[in-house]
Amino acid sequence: MGVCGYLFLPWKCLVVVSLRLLFLVPTGVPVRSGDATFPKAMDNVTVRQGESATLRCTIDDRVTRVAWLNRSTILYAGNDKWSIDPRVIILVNTPTQYSIMIQNVDVYDEGPYTCSVQTDNHPKTSRVHLIVQVPPQIMNISSDITVNEGSSVTLLCLAIGRSEPTVTWRHLSVKGQGFVSEDEYLEISDIKRDQSGEYECSALNDVAAPDVRKVKITVNYPPYISKAKNTGVSVGQKGILSCEASAVPMAEFQWFKEETRLATGLDGMRIENKGRMSTLTFFNVSEKDYGNYTCVATNKLGNTNASITLYGPGAVIDGVNSASRALACLWLSGTLLAHFFIKF
Ligand SMILES: *[C@@H]1O[C@H](CO)[C@@H](O)[C@H](O)[C@H]1NC(C)=O
Ligand SMILES: *[C@@H]1O[C@H](CO)[C@@H](O)[C@H](O)[C@H]1NC(C)=O
Ligand SMILES: *[C@@H]1O[C@H](CO)[C@@H](O)[C@H](O)[C@H]1NC(C)=O
Ligand SMILES: *[C@@H]1O[C@H](CO)[C@@H](O)[C@H](O)[C@H]1NC(C)=O
Ligand SMILES: *[C@@H]1O[C@H](CO)[C@@H](O)[C@H](O)[C@H]1NC(C)=O
Ligand SMILES: *[C@@H]1O[C@H](CO)[C@@H](O)[C@H](O)[C@H]1NC(C)=O
Repeated sequence: MGVCGYLFLPWKCLVVVSLRLLFLVPTGVPVRSGDATFPKAMDNVTVRQGESATLRCTIDDRVTRVAWLNRSTILYAGNDKWSIDPRVIILVNTPTQYSIMIQNVDVYDEGPYTCSVQTDNHPKTSRVHLIVQVPPQIMNISSDITVNEGSSVTLLCLAIGRSEPTVTWRHLSVKGQGFVSEDEYLEISDIKRDQSGEYECSALNDVAAPDVRKVKITVNYPPYISKAKNTGVSVGQKGILSCEASAVPMAEFQWFKEETRLATGLDGMRIENKGRMSTLTFFNVSEKDYGNYTCVATNKLGNTNASITLYGPGAVIDGVNSASRALACLWLSGTLLAHFFIKF
């Protein structure tokens, strides 16, 4: 190394010095930090992407030459900067310590860095690994989606980070939060209505809090009438028939009496639709209102209907229609009359 001083380094000399320094770094036999062997570099350095990393090397006054290398490339030799990277600066060059700093560290800076010294003509090296961490970040995630019941759905959640984040999906359903996939892909075949709702993708690594995003799956299904109850009410009273249907998208309702479609405002009655529920209100029930009504719930996937009876006081409803009730009544009075006439 005597040929070239550190201060004046024409290109040829750079190469020679590089080779010499290279030679000082026996790749097969790294001097691990923590060894009693001199010089002593710090333990591995872990920093987050964007932060600064300080590489320290403890030396003593017998040291005649010092350098820091990135793999086999010299960054600094003594006070001389060899690296063209403006992020690399020298921090300390004293008889006891030789330190450099890498600012705004990025993932490609990760790797082995070597402190190389020469003491009494003996080359020594110490190696430190720069480890760059990146918090988990979801880069690409599926958009909210609407499908028909029975379809297949695939959701995707791509995340970056160092270390490689673990990606999981779970269903934020009403009945607890179940893990549904421990993968970037969430595949649901033959989707059911109770699988609709929010799904949460979470990307987790050991660096920072997980990155979490949500995707909503809407599952369309045809109407299903969940409530339709017969109603008894006296003449002159207010009567309400109601019909409840679950459907996605929300059902639209129609009311029929026999074949006739009913319209709101006609004959002192009103039809009101509120969400899943439709009501048919009679403000002042009369005899002609009694009978059989049909509630029809429709959405773009289909329709269904239910029959609801408005009946008067004293009527026995379950399973018997009003006509047969009337007949039974006539028959009963007839028998009573016959009885009466036979007796007298
Ligand atoms: C430093 O990091 C390297 C590479 O990741 C590893 O092989 C080595 O065991 C680490 N040394 C210490 C002291 O943690
Ligand atoms: C270290 O070397 C790697 C590989 O050549 C390079 O991408 C990176 O920019 C270097 N970092 C510094 C701080 O010199
Ligand atoms: C997200 O991933 C999808 C599917 O691989 C791809 O088509 C789309 O271009 C990606 N979007 C972004 C912003 O990377
Ligand atoms: C209900 O209708 C009957 C017969 O049309 C009528 O006599 C009665 O006053 C009405 N009652 C109400 C509260 O409007
Ligand atoms: C009610 O449903 C039955 C069976 O699906 C169908 O045949 C009938 O036409 C429907 N009635 C109305 C009024 O939609
Ligand atoms: C009411 O009408 C519907 C459809 O017209 C019919 O299916 C049902 O049996 C009727 N119910 C009664 C109690 O008459």
